[in-house]
Amino acid sequence: MRFADGLKFLQESIRQQNMVGAVWPSSPALCATMAEPVLRDRPDRPLRILEVGAGLGPVSEILIPKLRAGDTYDIVELNPTFCEHLRDRFGDTPATIHELSILDFRADSYDRIVSGLPLANFPAKVVEEIYRTFFRLMHPDAFFVMFEYLVIRQALAVATLGAERRRVRRILEIEQHLLPLQREQIDILANVPPARVRVRGRPEDPDAFTL
Ligand SMILES: C[S@@+](CC[C@H](N)C(=O)[O-])C[C@H]1O[C@@H](n2cnc3c(N)ncnc32)[C@H](O)[C@@H]1O
Repeated sequence: MRFADGLKFLQESIRQQNMVGAVWPSSPALCATMAEPVLRDRPDRPLRILEVGAGLGPVSEILIPKLRAGDTYDIVELNPTFCEHLRDRFGDTPATIHELSILDFRADSYDRIVSGLPLANFPAKVVEEIYRTFFRLMHPDAFFVMFEYLVIRQALAVATLGAERRRVRRILEIEQHLLPLQREQIDILANVPPARVRVRGRPEDPDAFTL
C-alpha cells in the first residue's frame, strides 16, 4: 500500500468515523490472513466471491490476480471516495464494484464472503441485519471471513454505560450465538490494533438461527 493511499484512508476515517471503523488500512499480515482461506481448497468450478467493505482494496489486491476464468468477484463498498479508488484500481479486472450498502445489495449464492466491515461500530440491530444478509447471500456450503479488533469490544462492554453498554453487550451476545458456525480463528498481532480473523459457515436453517 502506498503512503498516499494510507492518507486517503485516514481522511475518510475522520470524515466517516463510524462507517470506516479504522484509522489506517489493515496490515499486510491481516490482509493475507483474510485472503488465504478464500481460495484454499477451491472446488473444481468457478467461484462466486463477494468482498464487503473493501476500503482501498488491500484484500482485493491479493485475491483478484488469483481468480480463475469464470470466477465472479463482486465488491460492495458504501464509501464513494473508496469506490472511485477501487474503480481506478480494479476497473480493468474481472471484479465488479457496487457502490451501496451491503444491506441494499440483492444477489445470492456466493461461495465465499470476505468482510472488512467495522461491525463493532454499528448499532446492534444493524449487526444482526448484516449477519442475516450474509446468510441470505451465501450458498449452503459457503463460508465467510471477517475480522474484529482483539479485546476492544470486551473493554467497551465494561468501560461504557447506558445505551452504549447495552449496544456492545448485545453485539457480544450475537458473537456468542455465532460460535457454532465457526471453522477457524487466527489472531494477528502484527496489526494496529491486533486483530482476530474468523472463518464461519452458514447455519443449516438461516431463518431459524438465533442471533
Ligand atoms: C475497516 S474498513 C476496511 C477496509 C479494508 N478492508 C482494509 O482492510 O483496509 C471498513 C469499510 O467498510 C465500509 N462500509 C461500512 N459500512 C458499509 C456497508 N453497510 N456496506 C458496505 N460497505 C460498508 C467502509 O466504507 C470502509 O471502507
